[in-house]
Amino acid sequence: MKKIAIANMKGGVGKTTTSVNLAVGLAMKGAKVLLVDMDPQGNVAHSLKVKASQNTIFDLMADDMVLEKVIRGGVRENLDVIPSNNLAFGLENRLAGETLREKIFARRMRHVVDYDYVIVDTSPAMSLLTVNTLLYVDKVILVVSMDQMALIGAVQSLAGLKRVLSVFDSPALDIAVLATMYNASTNGSRETMTALKSDPDLGPYVLPLFIRQDVKVSYSAASKKSIWEYDPRTRAAEDYSKLVEHILEEKAVSANAGNSEIGEVAAQA
Ligand SMILES: Nc1ncnc2c1ncn2[C@@H]1O[C@H](COP(=O)(O)OP(=O)(O)OP(=O)(O)O)[C@@H](O)[C@H]1O
Ligand SMILES: [Mg+2]
Repeated sequence: MKKIAIANMKGGVGKTTTSVNLAVGLAMKGAKVLLVDMDPQGNVAHSLKVKASQNTIFDLMADDMVLEKVIRGGVRENLDVIPSNNLAFGLENRLAGETLREKIFARRMRHVVDYDYVIVDTSPAMSLLTVNTLLYVDKVILVVSMDQMALIGAVQSLAGLKRVLSVFDSPALDIAVLATMYNASTNGSRETMTALKSDPDLGPYVLPLFIRQDVKVSYSAASKKSIWEYDPRTRAAEDYSKLVEHILEEKAVSANAGNSEIGEVAAQA
């Protein structure tokens, strides 16, 4: 089972879009996928038309509600979801007195083994829920939309990630950087892409593919559909298919060769 977080402390860079479309895309390829929303904004539920008024990530984290209750089965073929809602904003206070509160998610999820992939969408903050996510997953995809602030957010996220791994003496994580909302006709996009690839921290992890800007991404989310359900012929569907293939191939390679060290990030010395 591969556990992947989608992250960037900067807001509005395409984290939820990537989480949802990667999860649905992997499921369409026959992989069994659990998509977890660790963001109190609850955008995963909004994007896939999942009911999130009760039995959410809040109940799993705060009250150890049984997984069967919080997991929505069959949201799409091969795709289950743990949704979130704004109650999760209160988790920071609610969990303040818990021992090892940063590892609650890993503890709650330890019996989740029947999936090929767990994809975790995170909020635009290095919150307790994000730290819990980082101490559960084995891979993080940093999503960077084509503006300078998104790049800065990703650098800050990577530094924060290293600190968390160091403090908790946690094993190295596999890192990837995904450029998104790319528009070749704008200077901003071209400049940010160049800066991203040459950035000393992020450059080595940039994936050999990117997601183009495509207004149909917003339309698909508003229609509560994945990009493939909305329009499988559109640019973003083509690009997200490449991401899905890349993730599937990576799993096949690491299954054959043991875990590769390429692209791994360890705790800061
Ligand atoms: N490739 C794309 N082309 C055009 N618009 C996009 C693309 N990807 C995402 N968007 C739009 O950008 C906005 C922000 O995307 P999204 O919600 O995925 O970001 P986020 O990082 O999850 O935000 P937050 O930090 O608030 O959780 C949404 O309106 C979404 O539809
Ligand atoms: Mg989001």
